[in-house]
Amino acid sequence: MKNFEYYNPVRILFGKGTIAKISEHIPAGIPVLLVYGGGSIKKNGVYEQVIAALGGYEFYEYPGVQPNPVYEQLMPALDVIKAKKIGFILAVGGGSVIDGAKFLAAAACYEGDDPWDILLKGLPVNEALPLGTVLTIPATGTEMNGNSVVTRKSLGQKLAFGSSAVMPKFSILDPEVTFSLPKNQIANGVIDAFIHVIEQYLTYPSRAEVQDRFAESLLHILKDTGSKVYAAVTPDYNDHANFIWAATNALNTSLSMGVTTDWSTHTIGHELTVLYGWDHAVTLAIVLPGVMQVTGQKRKEKMLQYAERIWGITSFDQNAVIAEVIKQTEQFFRCLGMKTHFSEYGVGEEVIEKVVNQLQSRDVNYLGRGRDITIDDVPAILRSRL
Ligand code: NZQ
Ligand code: ZN
Repeated sequence: MKNFEYYNPVRILFGKGTIAKISEHIPAGIPVLLVYGGGSIKKNGVYEQVIAALGGYEFYEYPGVQPNPVYEQLMPALDVIKAKKIGFILAVGGGSVIDGAKFLAAAACYEGDDPWDILLKGLPVNEALPLGTVLTIPATGTEMNGNSVVTRKSLGQKLAFGSSAVMPKFSILDPEVTFSLPKNQIANGVIDAFIHVIEQYLTYPSRAEVQDRFAESLLHILKDTGSKVYAAVTPDYNDHANFIWAATNALNTSLSMGVTTDWSTHTIGHELTVLYGWDHAVTLAIVLPGVMQVTGQKRKEKMLQYAERIWGITSFDQNAVIAEVIKQTEQFFRCLGMKTHFSEYGVGEEVIEKVVNQLQSRDVNYLGRGRDITIDDVPAILRSRL
């Protein structure tokens, strides 16, 4: 196991009725900015619960954060933050709303000309407004990490930044809030979280047994309970509870300690969202089987471990095992109603050149942190997904 430092200061308030506890965790007497998305919280009763909990505060609202949050839509909020002397941001929504709020929290304290440079130039974020979250979709893990992904439409860039300064002070995870999710968003959440685990697990052996076994338990829960949540006619509280907690743990930094991580599937996926506007998980479900194909031999040991421990596939013929586990993984996504090939979206071979150009424009050479996938591998990955 490699050396690591572990720090996660996010307070989690988990369970039914926990939105009412917001006021215990926001300091009194400071103006609050309530940031939310396109209106789902107004249809499922979450908005009313939040407004009731904010009863004692001076607060302002900034709605309309779009899926794959957009810099151009977020920037006007900085004027509100300044004019109203906002001292705390409360993000109520999915990964997009929370990531948008993290960007605002960092941008509000940024002293340069354009806070986009935080993402473009990877500038360190040492200071940010404090923020809290009410999570409404289990998927990204952003509720318990310091990452944020934002798109700048005019430049065709979807970029990430990370800082402990934007880790939420608290995150509220009430499973009942997720009962209103449409099926495609449940599928998105299961697949995104599943692939977060894969990005940190399906690389090279590190003798990190805690992380391996933890990753495997999360994969099982996402596969089994995630599928149940997707198929359910009536939501089951405990299934939703386990789904949320698995998704949160899939990207709250604990799995990545002491191991080689990847993130190539995400790197390519973000470019596909820029090009086609697809949901984040839609891109991942197409790309991952291609990444597995191209890395199957290099990552054979972990590939065989994944095959045996998650899918029960064993054989003397290792190549057959690898081929079968790629097939099973793709089939799992398809059972969640997800398409897994470009042709199913009417996209052809042109995608290869477009993605390569996008990556080259930002001088991306190594796609993953394991440095075993380069820009030269991208055509083969994408070609296998046509
Ligand atoms: O906008 P509203 O009206 O709220 O509707 C949303 C949105 O249309 C809806 N929704 C959310 N909760 C709901 C609900 N509808 C009914 N009932 C509920 N309880 O779902 C739609 C999608 O929401 P969004 O926030 O976009 O989804 P998700 O949580 O999947 O977030 C995706 C974004 O997170 C980034 C992605 O790249 C993408 O931009 N990621 C962030 C990461 C991080 N910060 O650590 C890591 C991830 O890998 C990912 O890159
Ligand atoms: Zn993701």
